[in-house]
Formats: sequence, C-alpha cells, structure tokens
Amino acid sequence: MTKIVNSWNDFDPLKHVIVGRADHSCVPPEEPATSEKVPIDSPMRGMWGPRPLETVEKANAQLDNLARILTERGVRVDRPEPLQWNQPVITPDFRTGSMMTCMPPRDTLLTIGNEIIEAAMSFRCRYWEYLAFRPLLSQYFNEDPEFLWSQAPRPRLSDKSYKHNYYDEKISLEERLVRTANKDFVTTEEEILFDAADVMRLGKDLFIQHGLTTNRKAMEWFKRRYPELRVHAVNFPGDPYPIHIDATFVPLRPGLIINNPHRPLPKAQREIFEKNDWQIVEAAMPAHKEPPPLCYSSVWLSMNCLVLDHKTVIVEASEVNQLEQMDKLGMNVIPVHFRDAYAFGGGLHCSTADVYREGSCLDYFP
Ligand code: ARG
Repeated sequence: MTKIVNSWNDFDPLKHVIVGRADHSCVPPEEPATSEKVPIDSPMRGMWGPRPLETVEKANAQLDNLARILTERGVRVDRPEPLQWNQPVITPDFRTGSMMTCMPPRDTLLTIGNEIIEAAMSFRCRYWEYLAFRPLLSQYFNEDPEFLWSQAPRPRLSDKSYKHNYYDEKISLEERLVRTANKDFVTTEEEILFDAADVMRLGKDLFIQHGLTTNRKAMEWFKRRYPELRVHAVNFPGDPYPIHIDATFVPLRPGLIINNPHRPLPKAQREIFEKNDWQIVEAAMPAHKEPPPLCYSSVWLSMNCLVLDHKTVIVEASEVNQLEQMDKLGMNVIPVHFRDAYAFGGGLHCSTADVYREGSCLDYFP
C-alpha cells in the first residue's frame, strides 16, 4: 500500500495527474446556469447536441499527446472513462436534454492534501460528470490507505438555485462588468455551489473566486470544512464572465503569480501577497485575437499553463508571448500544441487534475 494522493498547490513537482478525454462530448442545451455564460455574439447560442466527430478526434489527439509528454517525463497519467454524454439528466428537481463532457477534469475534482473532493457544480448538464472519474477514485481508494474520498453536499439545482431574469439578450458588456463588480451573479445563495477550478490552492491558504460558478455559501462551507486552512474570497471585477480562476490568476512558483492584465486583483485583496513578498506579474498578451470555433473560453487560455515544478512549465505552443514571458521569468518552457482541445472546456491546466505533487502543506502567508 502506498501514498497515491497528495497535492497542496499547483507548482510543486508533479508526479501523478489525470488528463481528460473528449469522447462523446456534447454542447449542452441552454439552462439557467449556462445560458448566460455563452457570449452574446457566440454562434453557439441556441445550438446543442453531440460535437462534430472530427473536432473530438482532434482534441483527443492533443490530449493523448499531452499524456505522452507527461509520461515521458516520469509523471503517472490516468484517464477518465467518458459516459455517453448525450443522455438527458432527470432528477426530482429538474430535467435537461443532455450532459456535456468530462472535460475539463479541473472543474470537477479538487485535491487538497490527501483528499479529492467531487465538486458541487452548478450546471445541470454536469450533474453526473464525476462518474467518469469514479473508476480512478475507486482505484486510488484501494491503493492508498490514507486517501480521503469526498463529495461536497450534492446541490439540488432546482429553480431556486438561479436568478431567472438574470440573463437577457440585450445585456451589454458594460452591464456585465457592473454586475461582476457588484458581485451579482446568476446563482443564488439557496445552496452550496462551486466548481473545483474556482479554488486556487496555496498550501494553508485557499483563494476562491466568487463568480458565476461559485457562490458565497460555498466559501462558508470551505471555512467550516477546513478550519485548519484559511479561506479567502477573491473576485476580479474586469471579467465579464467570471468562471474559473485559472485563466486569471496563476501561481508559477512560491512567491510568483501571473495575473490577467484585463482582470487585475483589487488592491485590498493584493495586500496578503504583497505583505509576504509575493510578486504579482501581468501575464503576457495572448497571441490570438479569437478563441477557436465552438469554444466557451476567452483568448486568455494563453496563461492556463501546467506547472511541472518550480522551474518547468508547459505552455500552449502557439502562445508565443506567453512562452517568451515564461522564459524571462526564469522558467524552462515545454511548448505543447493544445488549441484543438480548447473548445472542450479549457487549456492545459483545466484539462488536468492533480493526484500527486511532492511537498506538504506550507504557510506562504504567515
Ligand atoms: N473563464 C476563463 C476564460 O475564459 C476560462 C477558464 C477555463 N478554466 C477551466 N478550468 N475550465 O478566460
């Protein structure tokens, strides 16, 4: 019996990781939580159904290549078992026409030390997504006597969990930014809701983005559940679609974080980093003007890198500005082509979930 699960941050030496799979991915039908996340001018509005097979195959080729590169570097790589995502989800509280995908794993699974938590996700189409990871979690449970396998309280996702008139076709970008600044999001405080990718782990501290996918009640849950950790709510008023922290605020090594220049961390929230001599550097501009077709995310997946250790990082191969910045920041950069996977939910960090990194729970902000 050995220790399989251990990870306290996103930069200590990576030894074991889950890499997602795009098989059977669907564009889900609109629902209260998602309609407002599809940008107004997006051709994806109103469409749903299985994604074109050719795009699935291309994404899988890049995911497989990422898995191969990691394996060659001595990282153990596990893969989920996708379900037939085109099936409806029916519960006593809601019904929706199809599921989505098991991409990206970072949204679903949150590793804190020897524990992996299945998140309390707010999208109805993602209700069963954790099932794709169950074979792996079950295996870790059998192999590692210390592995804590948990699930956050299952949300019901009834109509009470959403503001129904929140979304309106005519809402302008300016209005969206006002809402972000006012912390007025589509989800209500009816129940605990969070995506794992809204939680940035830095040892003893959890920085959790309050936005479209994570509410205040989730922060309160984290506080009670982890009294030995410090929970900080963070928000980025420059982001009209605040979903997941990892294209906004990305730690590279102890003492260094890159921050999306369009979404700066507010001054009051910067203090904890500055007082402890952490440097917050503006991330380089993305190399692309537009995200790839049928993609929900912004061009800022450029900064969604996968850190392998304090000196090594994987960056998307066409992101020339980000590659160059990493080099200047003293990182060894491994370029990996990944844009074909973007449409399935995100970049290199999103598409993975930590199982094991060396290191322990450190206090970076004493
Ligand atoms: N909201 C981010 C952006 O579009 C994308 C974040 C994707 N991250 C993830 N873990 N799925 O800039």
